[in-house]
Amino acid sequence: MEALRVGYGDTFLVNGAAGGVGTIAVQLARAVGATVVGTASEANHAYLRQLGAIPVVDGDGLVERVRRLAPQGVDAALDAASADGLGPRAAVEVVRDKDRVGTLAAVEAYERLGARWIASRRSAERLEALVALWSRGALRVHVRATWSLEDAAAAHRDVESGHGCGKVVLLVD
Ligand SMILES: NC(=O)c1ccc[n+]([C@@H]2O[C@H](COP(=O)([O-])OP(=O)(O)OC[C@H]3O[C@@H](n4cnc5c(N)ncnc54)[C@H](OP(=O)(O)O)[C@@H]3O)[C@@H](O)[C@H]2O)c1
Repeated sequence: MEALRVGYGDTFLVNGAAGGVGTIAVQLARAVGATVVGTASEANHAYLRQLGAIPVVDGDGLVERVRRLAPQGVDAALDAASADGLGPRAAVEVVRDKDRVGTLAAVEAYERLGARWIASRRSAERLEALVALWSRGALRVHVRATWSLEDAAAAHRDVESGHGCGKVVLLVD
């Protein structure tokens, strides 16, 4: 959020909004008072609405759909989709300031479209801030499946399906 300067009153586009990363990005943006439009397949739209985002399907016509949903314009965008969709291209088209378009997935978008590369930055302070949000109910981690360590291969297949919402947890006794 800080890297893309997402704040109160902004409209923020998240590609892959129902995924593990997207789920957190949507909630962090909502917590600071941004309006969030999130791409996801239809099956994940109800989930996105629960998180407070306005869902939209990826694919042909994405730019027009986003513009219809956000006639006020889009201020910043994050690409967190696990495979190539139209998201990165749509993001650079609808956001005026390219410095506010970030990707942590689409290397090609980063290189060719001028989006910013967003790397994860872990620290005790950031964890503390996330726990504070979680404590006041502004952040939740949706666990869609829990697997035992013996079923790690199946857990990987689940993750690699690329279309589930939230996180997959592996239990280590
Ligand atoms: N740079 C970093 O520090 C960093 C850190 C963590 C993750 N990542 C990367 O960030 C990406 C997301 O990670 P994640 O853990 O959130 O993955 P994830 O849980 O699998 O979620 C990815 C989302 O991408 C969407 N998606 C899948 N195929 C798509 C397609 N063809 N077109 C458009 N959307 C598509 C899916 O949405 P629907 O099911 O709704 O279609 C899914 O919810 C991955 O590429 C991962 O490698 C980078």
